[in-house]
Amino acid sequence: MTDKAITLKCISKKFSLGDQVKSVLQDLDFVIDKGRFILITGESGVGKSTLLNIMGLLSKPSDGEVTIFGNVSVNDNSDLLRKVFVSFVFQETVLLEALTIRENIDLMRCLWKKNKRRNSCFYENVNEIDLEDAIDSLGMRDYLETLPGKLSGGQKRRAMILMAVAKNSPILLLDEPTNDLDSKWVDRVLDFIRRLANCGTTVVMVSHDKRAEGYCDEIYEVTNGRLRLIRKENGKNLITIDKNNRH
Ligand SMILES: Nc1ncnc2c1ncn2[C@@H]1O[C@H](COP(=O)(O)OP(=O)(O)OP(=O)(O)O)[C@@H](O)[C@H]1O
Ligand SMILES: [Mg+2]
Repeated sequence: MTDKAITLKCISKKFSLGDQVKSVLQDLDFVIDKGRFILITGESGVGKSTLLNIMGLLSKPSDGEVTIFGNVSVNDNSDLLRKVFVSFVFQETVLLEALTIRENIDLMRCLWKKNKRRNSCFYENVNEIDLEDAIDSLGMRDYLETLPGKLSGGQKRRAMILMAVAKNSPILLLDEPTNDLDSKWVDRVLDFIRRLANCGTTVVMVSHDKRAEGYCDEIYEVTNGRLRLIRKENGKNLITIDKNNRH
């Protein structure tokens, strides 16, 4: 498997609003190497979630190309690539309300096992995440038999992270995952995500949370439809990015 987890080439995204066209991302290039922990910041409404959705093949760019571990996304493979390679933690709460937390997690675990059975060639170098460790690290052991409706906002957020992790994908995309968490849990959750990256998971996290900065390898800001590098550590292995904004 290539060391490039996500490559975005000349990505643009426009939305139609009535007879107006709104351009959110423009001609954006970005390369993320396997196992990096990337933080994306930027003002509300600049296009962070839009960008994350494109990276995770949930949304198609208006122009440009997304490549996931060497596989160029085209119409007939994007669902498969997303299923195999990408786990999401959405900005809004997404849990199946009729199922307990354990059942929500089991569902994702089943999805992973099914994907792995059907597409074993993609899983050669994918480490299995220790779900029991994840349950304890995210403080969810006491809530496994609870329905989502009976959890606090912070508990729901941690349950969503657990669900994403249960899918065991090599890329984890998180949109504002520390929302609703108190500072103790912000640190524990970020520490857990850092450990995932240390074990080879490629992490892209959108966040306004300043506390996240100390945990990640690189920080970018979405501005004027492109990514601007804010900080990069251990940069010698990584080449960036926006061709109009090289460092
Ligand atoms: N489906 C859509 N149709 C039309 N406009 C959209 C759509 N999705 C997003 N937008 C617009 O694109 C812009 C970027 O939205 P996006 O959700 O990516 O912002 P964001 O940076 O994630 O903001 P926040 O920090 O508030 O979550 C916004 O102006 C939004 O109104
Ligand atoms: Mg957003």
